Amino acid sequence: MTTFANAPAPSQVPTATIAVIGAGGKMGTRVSDNLVKTDHRVFYVESSPTGQERVAAAGRELTEAATAVAEADIVVLAVPDLALGPVTAELVPQMKSGGIVLTLDPAAAYAGLLTTRDDVVQAVAHPCHPSVFLQRTTPEEYADTFGGIAAPQDAVAAVESDDPAVVAVVEATVRAIYAPVIDVHFVTIKQLAQLEPTLVETVACMIGSLLKEALDEAVTTMGVPEAAARSMLLGHTQVALANGLRGDNPFSDACLIAMDYGRESIIKDDWKKIFRDDELDANLARMLHLDHIDRGEHRS
Ligand SMILES: NC(=O)c1ccc[n+]([C@@H]2O[C@H](COP(=O)([O-])OP(=O)(O)OC[C@H]3O[C@@H](n4cnc5c(N)ncnc54)[C@H](O)[C@@H]3O)[C@@H](O)[C@H]2O)c1
Repeated sequence: MTTFANAPAPSQVPTATIAVIGAGGKMGTRVSDNLVKTDHRVFYVESSPTGQERVAAAGRELTEAATAVAEADIVVLAVPDLALGPVTAELVPQMKSGGIVLTLDPAAAYAGLLTTRDDVVQAVAHPCHPSVFLQRTTPEEYADTFGGIAAPQDAVAAVESDDPAVVAVVEATVRAIYAPVIDVHFVTIKQLAQLEPTLVETVACMIGSLLKEALDEAVTTMGVPEAAARSMLLGHTQVALANGLRGDNPFSDACLIAMDYGRESIIKDDWKKIFRDDELDANLARMLHLDHIDRGEHRS
């Protein structure tokens, strides 16, 4: 087992009763695959027949939501963001007092769509995914670009409680579901929403898909052999990230001029508006299929 300097020793990790709602979905399966390796007591809940088949195929026993949620110290909601409003409206009132409800994405929580309770703690935790600069040594670590299998990653969490015992349960759960985890960074729910979607989906993932589009243009429009174009792009993408994010080497003078041309041609002058609160709300409203974000309280 890989251990990390900042991780609590196994003997200090609080064991909890955890309910995974949506256990047959993409994240529910990843989370469940990791939780079976821990000492936590885990209930698996899944509503769709195909999801139920996946839970059964993984050798896990299904539990009714009402039973699981009533017993759980922490309820992990691995359901689609669009379902989080109705799912919390149904399940949060059934949780025991002092329980923790953990969502895996900040959008719905920040948008105020979740049903909350004064005696139930709301928490959100998102995996960072393994860093492009991670020192990978095994084929399994190289293959695990998403994280949660072999390549260590950080996670970012937000907990609406100052109670160290509650934070410890959340951290232990986050370390378990996204294992192997190096660090868990604690921020506010708003900061987590500023990271995801704005920083990593709106910017980083958009640029990733733009690179693919540019590669296709080099091949189809300019007629460069695909293997040559792909090799140049993949190697230079590493250099661009290493120089741009880590300062490994300076970009050459000619490269800086070409970069200026790219910025003038591709980037809008006002692009940093995406970091404004009203733009975050507009982005989240689009993602959650809402007309607008209304931060009203949804307390039961
Ligand atoms: N997919 C990713 O890469 C990824 C990464 C990080 C975080 N997340 C977050 O994880 C959460 C889940 O996303 P996903 O991509 O795994 O979704 P998914 O659609 O793959 O799985 C959702 C599962 O929840 C089940 N479900 C829906 N309503 C339910 C209910 N009331 N009771 C029990 N089960 C129910 C569905 O049947 C399905 O099996 C979302 O909040 C998402 O933003 C996803």
